[in-house]
This record gives sequence, structure tokens and C-alpha cells, in this order.
Amino acid sequence: MNKTIIVSNRLPLQVSIHDNSLKVSPSVGGLATGMKSVHSEGNGIWVGWSGIPENELNPELSREVQNKIKKEKCVSVPLTSQDIEEYYEGFSNRALWPLFHYFMEYTNFEQKEWEAYKRVNEKFAEVVIDNLNDGDTVWVHDYQLLLLPQLIKEKKPNTTIGFFLHIPFPSYEIFRTFPWREEILTGMLGADLLGFHTYDYERHFLSSVKRILRLDVNFNEINFHDRIIKVDSFPMGIDYSKFHNAALKHHSDSYEKSELRTRLEEHLVDDKKLILSIDRMDYTKGIPNRIKAFEYFLDTYPQYKEKVRLVMLAVPSRSNVPQYQKLKRETDELVGRINGKFATVSWTPIWYFYRSLPFENLIDLYISSDVALITPIRDGMNLVAKEYVATRTHGNGVLILSEMAGASKEMNEALLINPNSYEDFAASLNTALTMPLNEQETRIKLLQKRLKRYDVEKWAEEFLKALKKTKEVTSNNITK
Ligand code: ADP
Ligand code: G6P
Repeated sequence: MNKTIIVSNRLPLQVSIHDNSLKVSPSVGGLATGMKSVHSEGNGIWVGWSGIPENELNPELSREVQNKIKKEKCVSVPLTSQDIEEYYEGFSNRALWPLFHYFMEYTNFEQKEWEAYKRVNEKFAEVVIDNLNDGDTVWVHDYQLLLLPQLIKEKKPNTTIGFFLHIPFPSYEIFRTFPWREEILTGMLGADLLGFHTYDYERHFLSSVKRILRLDVNFNEINFHDRIIKVDSFPMGIDYSKFHNAALKHHSDSYEKSELRTRLEEHLVDDKKLILSIDRMDYTKGIPNRIKAFEYFLDTYPQYKEKVRLVMLAVPSRSNVPQYQKLKRETDELVGRINGKFATVSWTPIWYFYRSLPFENLIDLYISSDVALITPIRDGMNLVAKEYVATRTHGNGVLILSEMAGASKEMNEALLINPNSYEDFAASLNTALTMPLNEQETRIKLLQKRLKRYDVEKWAEEFLKALKKTKEVTSNNITK
């Protein structure tokens, strides 16, 4: 039976060592959480990195890691500490990630890290090819593996290969500053179908292909080495029923409330409100901006003092990369300063958690919050915004969403804001906190309808269907 091989840098589970024994936890991030549901339903395998450097494992632990991973239908690509430093922390997260999110000042282009990026993409290619049978489909994900489609195509030209980018593709003016721009584009063009979250990212990609590689682009088709490659947008959905049903379960009378939920609800008396934000601790998410805007809001609308609380969950991420360390320091300082400025004996304006919480606690946060404040400076999609809406089983709640998140393209009923404008922030918070219940319900219901219809399963199905079709058309053309 033919299978689909999902390939991404990170597997849906992460292995770490604590007191000489292995700990397995779910991976955080839109790619892992979204694809996890797709993977668990299918008959395929998932190839990726376990989250641990191979050279830190003795043979016995290494076998244990392999076994744990195998149980989840995954196959690991062994990466050394040097690979992790140069390919993951280095090239992927200090060159590609900031560039693709328009943080030009954070980019660092190093030849040595580029070499590591090529080397590790080749390691991934080897593992994929070892696990590949005739007729299998390979679906490669995200910016860490932009060279992989071409590496597989060279060795296995008949394989059907799809590629999906989970982050923005920047405009040509940004992308053309990249030292290895031709190689990156050529690497991606090993795929038969390339998918992006939005039409804008797709357009930017096609424009770079046309202007940098000077290839024939006909609407959304590229003619390359006698192959027709298709490019399209597929806005990623969430596992809607998982989040919706979890929220229903948490609301049921028989459900025992967690301590977190009880503490959150203690605040929700006398018309007090909770405002929620959840992100990985990443500079693209606009965390310092949000805190400063919240300060501006409390200064501009003093009637909300002691009435609202911002609950901010920031999940640790890429903490060996200097910009992430700087962001963490800045966030700690800002939260401290603003809490110091406004706190009273009975009220702290910001509750800040810097840790990863279990799924059930995420649901507690979603269902207890009156407003979700999702305000990235730049974000490929943002699934947290969609998850918040899915958990609003009572129909109430308001989503404030940055126009710079891919999700804003399909979530018009949210209050859309420019995250660089404190005025916009403050006015939207005021609108959200005073919005009549019937208007909240109308907006939430419309959003839910769309999210339910186009969930992550449907998203994957449409991508794979389009991939199959592209491949059939290409094969027919070749045989003619
Ligand atoms: P990104 O992919 O940039 O991290 P998204 O908002 O698209 O941003 O995705 C974040 C994902 O991480 C969401 O699916 C969210 O549920 C998940 N997540 C956030 N915090 C946690 C956590 N503590 N544990 C597990 N998953 C989490
Ligand atoms: C984003 C990226 C993913 C990545 C995730 C978590 O969602 O698009 O590719 O896996 O962030 O980041 P990490 O560096 O921990 O894998």
C-alpha cells in the first residue's frame, strides 16, 4: 500500500533527558500541532528530528529514543550538536526565519552555516529515500528543508513531492537580498506542488521565481526542466472538533476544574474581564509591543484599572539564539515595569507565564478569557487565533487579531488591527470589552462555521488531492 511520508525538521514529539532518563513531550508550534492530527489518521510515517543531539546519547539511550519515536509512526534523522548549532539555530533561525518575517536587521548570513544547511538537508534526503517505496508521496514542510524537494527529485525523479511553507514568503525586494537565493528557489522547485498559507505569499514566491531564475511562469504554473510545477494557496486549518469538544468537556458539570481554571475564575467576578495572549516567545509575535500597548490602554482608559487582566502565556522557544534571549529579557523587564506601575494590593494587571502548559490548561485559558489578543508583527498563519474561536462553545468572546497574521485573511469577523499602532490596540480593546453579547455571538458563529468546514483534515486532503492531480497532468504530458 502506498504511503505518505511527512517530512519536517521537528517531529510532533520532542525527546529530552532528565536525570538520565528520557522524557517525551508534544512539540509546540503550528506545524507540529496541525500536522499531528493529519498524521495520526493516515497510514504514513513522519520523518524529522527528535529534539536531542545524537552525540549526547549512549547507544542504549539512542535505541530507546528510536523505539519511542517508532511507536508514534515516526523516523528520526540523527542530528549532532554541530548540526543543531549551525543548521537549526544558525541558518534556519538566524538567516531564513528573520528574513522571511521581514526582520532584516536580525539576519546573519554565514557561509559555514549555509554549508551546514546543505549538509543537513542531505541527511534528511538520505533518511527519506531509505524509507521510500515506489508510489509513495513525500510531503516536505517548512523553511528548514527548502533544499530537500530537489535533493529527493534528483535521486528519485518519479516520486510525487509536495512542499508547504508554514511561514510567510517575503516580497521579491526582501528575498533578493539573500545570498543563496537561486539555490533556495531551485531546491523548492524539486516539488510538484508548492503550497502557501495565503495568496500574497504565493504571489511573492512566483515573482521571485520569475525575476531571479527567469523562468516561464504561466498564471500559477512554472515550467522547469520539462516539468510543470504548480503553486497555490492553502490556508491551514485546525483540528476544530478536538478544540471544540475539549471546551465542551471542560464546561460540563461533571468535569473537575483545574487549579488554574479556579484561579482564573476568581478574577471573573463583578464584571471583571480576562484578556488572553498565547505565543511561542518569538520576536515576530509582537510581545513587547503588546505589553506597551496594554500600558497605553490603561493610561488612556483608566476606568479599566482593576477591571481587566492580561494573561500572557509565552512558551520558551529557540532559547540558544541571541535575539530570543534578548526578547526574553525585554519581556521580563516590561512586565515587571508595568505591573509595578499599576498594581494595587488586590490586582496585578499582567499575569505572565513563561513555560509550556499541558493541553488541558491551554483549554482552560481559552475558555476563561473574554478577549484574545493575538497581535504578531508578522506571522505566516497563527493557529492560536483559530483555536480560541473553536473553544468558544457559548458563542461569546472577542478575537482581536493583527492584520499581519495570515489568519486575518480568512477571519474578517475578528477585530483586525495594525499591531504597530497603540491607538488601534487601545480602541479595539475598548470595543471588545464593551461589545454587546449578540454581536459577539454573530461574529464567533460565522468564524466557527468557516473553521469547522475548512479544518486541518480538509486542508491536508485538498493539498494532497491537488498534488496528485498536478503529478498526473505532468506524467501525461511527458508520455505524450
Ligand atoms: P507558531 O507556529 O509560530 O508557534 P501558531 O499560533 O500557528 O504559531 O501555533 C502555535 C501552536 O502551538 C498552537 O497550535 C498552540 O496550541 C500550540 N501551543 C501553544 N502553547 C502550547 C503549549 N504550552 N503546549 C502545547 N502546544 C502549545
Ligand atoms: C513555527 C515553524 C515550525 C516550527 C515551530 C516551532 O511554527 O513554522 O517549523 O517547528 O515554529 O519552532 P521550533 O524551532 O521549536 O521547531
